[in-house]
Amino acid sequence: MGHHEHNHEDSDTNPAEYWDRRYGEAEPIWTGKVNKVLADVASGLEPGRSLDLGCGEGGDVIWLAKNGWTALGIDISEKAIARARSAAQTEGLGEDRARFVAGDLTEMNLDAEVDLVSASFFQSPVMLNRTAILRAAAAMVAPGGHILVVSHASMPNRNGDGPKFSSPEEEVEALGLNDRDWEPLIIESRARTHAGRDGVEMELEDAVVLYRRKS
Ligand SMILES: C[S@@+](CC[C@H](N)C(=O)[O-])C[C@H]1O[C@@H](n2cnc3c(N)ncnc32)[C@H](O)[C@@H]1O
Repeated sequence: MGHHEHNHEDSDTNPAEYWDRRYGEAEPIWTGKVNKVLADVASGLEPGRSLDLGCGEGGDVIWLAKNGWTALGIDISEKAIARARSAAQTEGLGEDRARFVAGDLTEMNLDAEVDLVSASFFQSPVMLNRTAILRAAAAMVAPGGHILVVSHASMPNRNGDGPKFSSPEEEVEALGLNDRDWEPLIIESRARTHAGRDGVEMELEDAVVLYRRKS
């Protein structure tokens, strides 16, 4: 393990324990639905092999698998992965279509080739070596393939336990992709309305970055 970026003062918390605790608070903690940006973007692509970084409860992976992709999701939380697996099973998706792996992406050797890397809200209030993981994942993208990063750019932060926000420009910098090999297709902020657990709607902003690998 190399050095880590500390996104938050809470840097001593073990990330696997932190996320298992989060997923243990409620079942499920996210909506289980696909992220809209992922669905919008992937609908316009030829299905192939996909990898979702920090897949959580698997909503995006399951959507991709149902739409013809051979989809892999990786997440540090065993709890989240167990939920994702049972959701895929409920959908009748075998491991050949939707596969989930529990593990810390920092410690994984990402060397397979994929046609789409997606990272939806791959952000954490505890230790996450995000830049290194995104760059290693980008290196897996085959020629003609894509990398999509969707992140919280702003949200009403109610309990002080939120992630570090990223602007689209910061995401571009984190990815560090050269324009000889990569074509930027989307670099923008998108507004989204989100109904919280208490039913109160809030305006969120997502940073959306999509690149296509030319060669
Ligand atoms: C904010 S959640 C997003 C979940 C999902 N992508 C979604 O859109 O609902 C961030 C996810 O990253 C995962 N994560 C954090 N650090 C990780 C790491 N080092 N390796 C793999 N997954 C990690 C967490 O367990 C969590 O599920």
